Amino acid sequence: MSLRDKPIGIFDSGLGGLTVVKAVLENMPNENIVYLGDSLNVPYGDKTSGQITEFAFRNTEFLLSKGVKAIAIACNTADSTSKGKLTQCYTLPIIGVVGPASEKAARLTRNKKVGVIATSTTVGSGAYERTVKSYLSDCEVFSVAAPLLVPLVEAGKIHKTDREMVDALNLYLTPLIQKGIDTLILGCTHYPLFYDLVKEMIPDINIVCSGTSSLDTLFDRLKAEELLNLSGKKGEAEFFVTGEPSYFGKHGGLFLGTSIEGKVKKAVI
Ligand code: DGL
Repeated sequence: MSLRDKPIGIFDSGLGGLTVVKAVLENMPNENIVYLGDSLNVPYGDKTSGQITEFAFRNTEFLLSKGVKAIAIACNTADSTSKGKLTQCYTLPIIGVVGPASEKAARLTRNKKVGVIATSTTVGSGAYERTVKSYLSDCEVFSVAAPLLVPLVEAGKIHKTDREMVDALNLYLTPLIQKGIDTLILGCTHYPLFYDLVKEMIPDINIVCSGTSSLDTLFDRLKAEELLNLSGKKGEAEFFVTGEPSYFGKHGGLFLGTSIEGKVKKAVI
């Protein structure tokens, strides 16, 4: 098998990274994918950066054992705490989500006020402030830690009728609206699931999804390294989890737009 035909490894703490898998399948249909959801340790957002770095190395080793040609970290929390350490240790391309989302937000904002909602660990890392400012130095970046959102998404409470979700979003978005932001980064790959709800709540604000923003970077990097799959064949995706495969299989369809029930395997790590 040529290097180009090898899969892209994608990992997240759980279901959220499937939003990135969906985007890759739709936009780079020849690519094969191996996905790892570290569902045993979800949520990452309330863990220390040391713990997450440990998970990130272990996830990377697992994906390498599957012969991946590149790794997409489909998790803001792992990216903001561990990507630098991973890139120091491995030579294969490792693409994150924080850089591309920050670049897009810096490009979209007109009033130079950008809001971020993300996990507590991502916010605590300061990665979004630093990275948005690296593209637009006089931009003000306001971040809010949103610990209630990942558990609500994992529980499928993403609709207008889910009071807890609407209340949580109001709690996190109100201070950002009061700051006058014109651009909001959904700094967690679980969050696109309630994109429509946020759009309805703040229709005049640009919304940047961190996961899908990374697609162009992934494509450009694979192209530059002559790693794009040129086979013309439809790619295949394999799904592994560290936790319970049946739960993941049952709920994965919501994130992926197509059922993966019965197709998820237990990762032996
Ligand atoms: N989806 C991940 C992120 O983008 C992690 C969420 C979590 O496990 O807390 O940050």
